[in-house]
Amino acid sequence: MTAAPGPLPGRYPEVHAASLADPERFWLEAAGAIDWASPPRRAFDASLGAYGRWFPDAALNACHNAVDRHVANGRAEQTAILYDSPVTGTKRAIRYRELRDAVATLAGVLVTLGVAKGDRVIIYMPMVPEALIGMLACARLGAVHSVVFGGFAANELAIRIEDARPKVVLAASCGIEPSRVVPYKPLLDAAIAASAHKPDACLILQRPQAEATLVPGRDRDWAETTARAEGAGLKADCVAVAATDPLYVLYTSGTTGKPKGVVRDTGGYCVALAWSMPNLYGVAPGEVYFCASDVGWVVGHSYIVYAPLMHGCTTVLYEGKPVGTPDAGALWRVAAEYGVACLFTAPTALRAIKKEDPRAERVGSYDLSKFRTLFLAGERADPDSVAWAERALDRPVIDHWWQTETGWPIAGNPVGLGLLPVKHGSTAVPMPGYDLRVLDEAGKPLPADTMGTIALKLPLPPGCLPTLWGSDERFRQSYLTTFPGYYDTSDAGVVDADGYVTVLGRTDDIINVAGHRLSTGGMEAVLASHPDVAECAVIGIRDALKGEQPCGFVVMKSGVAREPAEVERELVALVRERIGPVAAFKLALTVGRLPKTRSGKILRGTMKRIADGEPWTLPPTIDDAAVLDEIGESLKGRGIGG
Ligand code: COA
Ligand code: AMP
Repeated sequence: MTAAPGPLPGRYPEVHAASLADPERFWLEAAGAIDWASPPRRAFDASLGAYGRWFPDAALNACHNAVDRHVANGRAEQTAILYDSPVTGTKRAIRYRELRDAVATLAGVLVTLGVAKGDRVIIYMPMVPEALIGMLACARLGAVHSVVFGGFAANELAIRIEDARPKVVLAASCGIEPSRVVPYKPLLDAAIAASAHKPDACLILQRPQAEATLVPGRDRDWAETTARAEGAGLKADCVAVAATDPLYVLYTSGTTGKPKGVVRDTGGYCVALAWSMPNLYGVAPGEVYFCASDVGWVVGHSYIVYAPLMHGCTTVLYEGKPVGTPDAGALWRVAAEYGVACLFTAPTALRAIKKEDPRAERVGSYDLSKFRTLFLAGERADPDSVAWAERALDRPVIDHWWQTETGWPIAGNPVGLGLLPVKHGSTAVPMPGYDLRVLDEAGKPLPADTMGTIALKLPLPPGCLPTLWGSDERFRQSYLTTFPGYYDTSDAGVVDADGYVTVLGRTDDIINVAGHRLSTGGMEAVLASHPDVAECAVIGIRDALKGEQPCGFVVMKSGVAREPAEVERELVALVRERIGPVAAFKLALTVGRLPKTRSGKILRGTMKRIADGEPWTLPPTIDDAAVLDEIGESLKGRGIGG
């Protein structure tokens, strides 16, 4: 059993208990934070969808809630977006009124391009205001956006175009990494060429760092098109959609290598995010919220775009890195310059900062008087880095756990309800509506402090995915069948006697590299496609900066007489070309054989322990121990393992 919370301080115990005891009442009350075109009379209908649907009789518009209502309610002149881009030397403040006008105009343009409620729009853009304007313009029309992270290769973009079948693609000519300009347009052109589905139109934001060539008849220049629309007074109003209609689809790594299109519905998401801002993050309308993620990830969707805007905050859009743009004080500089109240980043970013500025000397150069709390998510937060940040900042540092699938945190320390004691290494307690259990392999609840798979008793709370795009069956198979009556998080962990959750790692082939979720199965598929490779295995091995890094072991086909180093270089290049630089795949090792059980299962767990320099024992199901020694030797050759 879980979450039998002990005598924890603050309002949390009573709030969480109320959310599970009477979800109807709890979520209808939370729904009061949202403007509805047609308000909900009931919160949940268990008879709909795979496990029920939230706010089945209500209608609303997410863009109205994030933008228009603030213009009408006295925030028109308040800054909505603070764009800070050290990589281009640009800063720009966009007020709510300006944002409303820009979004309405772009929505008008999308209508002329044939986009209507329910149509999909792919957004392949870096961290520029136009990406947010694009997302909100889709939401305004009830169109479904699907943002693709810029670090993915053309092939990954093509897979998403084929699955989402967008009418229009919104893209920028390039993204900017500290070390290089990344031209997006050639990747987009290649993706469209490779996809069986072709969008009707592409709207391209030309950036001076790398202007793109437009394809006549298909591509339009963003600035020219929107200027013309503005001149003509072309605008589109918010379209009310059913609360159960999708707001977006966000693809994330699946275990097969084929990404999963996580569907986010509109009403439940708006309600959950609106609840989280004051209660979990402890932020008030009008305050400045800085989430240093990317709009290509779920964290960016929820806490760069929708939640802060819905709550009437100012959101910071930071096109830079935690280090190197220009230094390890970058996040503190932004926090001070804009009076940030709440900062949200990934543990990797902290580790990168700590490496460059171990004594946190840069923190002292900035006035952080408005800054109250640092939140971390995306990967396991190592206790050392959390303790370092607490000392450096003299503020609570809160680790919280979530997934693309859930859209908002599963567990965290709800600052707004009264800060709970912080336990390093733990992501604190389940958020409202999450009935969290740790189960053994047979689905039996485990006692406190016993490791198992973390599962969420159905129904999931508002905000979580109702299904996967175009595949209810894959949704059921992936999440609902392992433990009937539960959603399987595929995360292993423990819950202690106080109800605190500690997430220990994935139970599937997903790895987390620099806070980026990747599938080793996807990488194996790429390696296996190389003509000289007979078989392969990719594992995530410990990395001091990025948490994990992928490492591929390959066995070459017999008769291939090529230099192993040459093939290894080709394999590294192939993963970069097919999946993208974000895979950070730099380690390919050719070996004579892969260690397998008698039934042919590759011993990935043992290989990982060898690479991580952890004690390991010879599994009884293996006949030949020498093969594991060979793995150890090849890792040692690269300075890895014990
Ligand atoms: N477009 C194109 N390429 C991108 C990209 C983007 N949006 N984002 C990352 N890449 C590239 C990087 O340039 C790098 O390329 P390289 O192999 O040529 O160096 C590669 O993808 C791997 O990137 P990353 O793993 O991020 O490593 P890094 O060395 O560039 O940066 C950190 C290290 C710690 C600064 C960075 O990982 C970071 O800021 N992490 C925080 C992540 C985060 O906020 N995650 C959100 C979850 S909450
Ligand atoms: P993503 O879908 O990209 O957000 O990645 C989700 C996965 O990241 C989870 O299933 C976890 O494995 C991991 N994760 C996210 N946040 C945390 C955290 N705070 N602690 C440990 N793991 C985390």
